[in-house]
Amino acid sequence: MTLDRFSERHHGRAVFAAMEPDHRAVLGAVREELFAAGYDEDGIHALAGMPLLEIHPATFHYLDRHVLGTDPLSAAIRLFLLDRTVDEQSVSSFLSEASVEVLLELGVLARSGGDLRSQIHITCVDGLLLATDTGRYSQWWDGVDDLGDRVMYIGYDSVGLAQVAPRDRVARTLDLCSGSGIQALVASRYSDEVVGVDLNPRAVRFARFNAALNGIENATFVRGDLFGPVEGREFDRVLSNPPFAPEVPGESHLYYRDGGPDGERLLARIVAGAGQVLAPGGLMPITTDLFNLSGLPRRIGEWLGAKGAFDVLVLVERELAAWSYADTHAAHAPTAVERTAYAARMVDAMDEAGIESVHTGYIVVRKRADGSSRPGTVETVPVAPAVTRPVGSRVADHFRFLDRDLDGGADAVLRTNPKVRLVTTALPDGRRTYRLVAPDDDYVADMDISDLARKLWEATLASDVRWSVIRGSALEPVARDLVRHGALALADQRAEPTPESTWSSQMNGTK
Ligand SMILES: C[S@@+](CC[C@H](N)C(=O)[O-])C[C@H]1O[C@@H](n2cnc3c(N)ncnc32)[C@H](O)[C@@H]1O
Repeated sequence: MTLDRFSERHHGRAVFAAMEPDHRAVLGAVREELFAAGYDEDGIHALAGMPLLEIHPATFHYLDRHVLGTDPLSAAIRLFLLDRTVDEQSVSSFLSEASVEVLLELGVLARSGGDLRSQIHITCVDGLLLATDTGRYSQWWDGVDDLGDRVMYIGYDSVGLAQVAPRDRVARTLDLCSGSGIQALVASRYSDEVVGVDLNPRAVRFARFNAALNGIENATFVRGDLFGPVEGREFDRVLSNPPFAPEVPGESHLYYRDGGPDGERLLARIVAGAGQVLAPGGLMPITTDLFNLSGLPRRIGEWLGAKGAFDVLVLVERELAAWSYADTHAAHAPTAVERTAYAARMVDAMDEAGIESVHTGYIVVRKRADGSSRPGTVETVPVAPAVTRPVGSRVADHFRFLDRDLDGGADAVLRTNPKVRLVTTALPDGRRTYRLVAPDDDYVADMDISDLARKLWEATLASDVRWSVIRGSALEPVARDLVRHGALALADQRAEPTPESTWSSQMNGTK
């Protein structure tokens, strides 16, 4: 029995099936009431003593019994994050009667004796409230044996993609594989119009609810297979967090998880669609596990086909050992024996599919606006082990550099990233080693640099270094490497800092 069948059987209809346009106003009140109780990323972190993304089933009992109190925020956390029943009086300390009524009507809340319980989780990301399905072993899902239509939780991949995507103003954004709608809803702030597409009808209902809960009116969600519902349309930005886990033979299918035997079934189709769906100059940021990284640039080139019209940036977070990757995916198993068995089947399936290495990361495809015949580029850049803070302006800098470089960068100068620091270590034999570190910038991975690079770094800190002088000199490869890692960027020599230039504004202390 799927989750939708379960809700229909036990509650008369599937969750959110009763949504009507006039629910928007009451849902706006629900949002305000939750915020008034302190139900946001910072409030929950402070009270629970852990970031929201780290709240998972193993922490529920501990938080419920040993950390949370009797205040309204504690009651809201128990109801919407910990799968606990909460007495109606405690719920009334943070939700009005009208809000409780609408949440009952939409199948979010259910009465259980004199208490209320929630069939969904509500997570907070980037100032948004996002409904997702509860955990895999929710005590409320007695009799559910097919979790295929489960709407995915907010994971590090979800948050990371929202942070990697540049947030400059665009007209049209497409969110492929929208799930809860997180990408589309974050993008609704910098896009005139957003369309989210998901194959799972339950996910489409969750995303529509989330748009209404957050008072967002410029995002629509449709059911369909990838580009199907938007055929013939072009978008400035296409975001995607597709299912990318390698399938384990014999396991039931999950919409949000299964990416075919090699994990790349949907990824390959999405990248291959870039030519049709991206407007000239458009960007396609994707989050995915990166399998067999060394062969990835070649595969991306094959998927893109007309390689010359694209530039691609691959951001690599961290490598995972195959056993550890499989063990993470087996975490849902109810017993240790089943967990070990599932992980073993997954390791075998990965081996069978020829997967030799796994990294977490992102692929950003840019369709060139200039239509020039210069060969396409695929650059691979290491970033922080888990991107959780905005790096979109760095991603934009990467593509801007390619364009400035192409036109010779006549007036451009190198600028240091103000978040990067040089650490010098004196060795006992008198030699020195140099390392660039940027603990506050998730784009910049720690980087050991040569003495020549150190000299360039210090020269750039002291005064404007012209790109046209560096080009063609012995320093060019060193400078390119620092630019590629986000430690240096090109800027206009005489230009006043512009508001959208993160680096310039950081240097002026406004960010
Ligand atoms: C990994 S989840 C991503 C959810 C959300 N975008 C996020 O970032 O958290 C993948 C989503 O892709 C959807 N999906 C799977 N196959 C699809 C297809 N062929 N076309 C559209 N959506 C699909 C699943 O239903 C699921 O909601």
